[in-house]
Amino acid sequence: MSKLTGKTAIITGAARGIGAAAARLFAAEGAILMLADVLEEDLQALAEKIGDQAAICPTDVTDEAAVKNLVEQAQAKFGKVDIALLNAGIEGALAHPTEYDTAIFDKVIAVNVRGVFLGLKYVMKAMEASGGSIVVTASTAGIRGVPGMSAYIASKHAAVGLMRSAAMDGAPNNIRVNTVNPSPIDTPMMESLENMHGVSDRNDRPLARATPLGRYGEPEEVARMMLFLASEDSSFCTGGVYMVDGGVSGGRR
Ligand SMILES: NC(=O)c1ccc[n+]([C@@H]2O[C@H](COP(=O)([O-])OP(=O)(O)OC[C@H]3O[C@@H](n4cnc5c(N)ncnc54)[C@H](O)[C@@H]3O)[C@@H](O)[C@H]2O)c1
Repeated sequence: MSKLTGKTAIITGAARGIGAAAARLFAAEGAILMLADVLEEDLQALAEKIGDQAAICPTDVTDEAAVKNLVEQAQAKFGKVDIALLNAGIEGALAHPTEYDTAIFDKVIAVNVRGVFLGLKYVMKAMEASGGSIVVTASTAGIRGVPGMSAYIASKHAAVGLMRSAAMDGAPNNIRVNTVNPSPIDTPMMESLENMHGVSDRNDRPLARATPLGRYGEPEEVARMMLFLASEDSSFCTGGVYMVDGGVSGGRR
């Protein structure tokens, strides 16, 4: 039997990158999905590729009413929410704190912190009776610093903090909560980061060469860790930080 047969899952930031890879893998493993993102056309295209197992609910994760509606839609359509992948995120700017645009700082915190908080708030309520598994996408930026990314680093540390507190609050109801901490993964976000670092040739990848494994990870390699945490294979795992980072957090090459 597939690992998620009979399970229902909400995935935010599902339209592309890591979220889309997780949606494809979770569907292949038998889950029924409610996919959420602000990119409605991409979301629709992905859902059509997946087929009957996927429904969409265009959602801005910073909007409380929209997140409440997302969880209500999933409950109404599927009768329950077993899994939530709180994955939507933005990278913000690359700038020294003295130059960092405060409006961009606020936006990064809104998506990466408030968005995760709102997801936890409504998904944990939906899981209260039967338990479930919540996976939050953090980053290596959630456990270490890098220059020029103060908002992103702060937001991903906060995502780890939200996960840890939710794991304690959810445990009595058998709601497990963990983070997956990727870096650097070959997605549109990485392309944006390369542009910020002035990388003009996408075949010359200094950010990839700087990782111990010497390459970017593929979104599917992150999705496999998300599947482990979403499934019963991780039945005794909660409050944990799971790196998928080619060795970045282990040391320098
Ligand atoms: N790519 C990497 O190397 C990397 C590394 C560490 C962590 N992450 C994290 O992984 C997650 C997915 O990133 P990705 O690399 O796939 O990036 P991506 O930009 O390809 O995908 C992010 C998705 O989130 C969606 N999104 C953004 N703001 C939203 C909002 N307000 N409401 C709903 N959806 C919104 C985007 O539309 C997009 O589809 C993010 O949380 C990111 O911070 C990525």
